[in-house]
Amino acid sequence: MYVCVCYAVTDSEIQGAIDAGATSCEAVAKACRAGGDCGSCRGMIEDMIEERHERSLPVLRSPHAPSTVPPGEGVAA
Ligand code: FES
Repeated sequence: MYVCVCYAVTDSEIQGAIDAGATSCEAVAKACRAGGDCGSCRGMIEDMIEERHERSLPVLRSPHAPSTVPPGEGVAA
């Protein structure tokens, strides 16, 4: 799907730039030209960058998560 119609850049080309390390619209534009003209596609590019970084964040374990210790094998009180 075309994201940047000014330069006919697809979502997969933009994703490739992000996967290669582009962390801003400017970096994406430098890598594949997307977002480098009228700017109307920048919102979508920013969403793609944000989504990529959310996926790469470590999953933190909640202190309220259920215990993985099987019943009866916990610390004796
Ligand atoms: S649509 Fe991407 S710069 Fe115009």
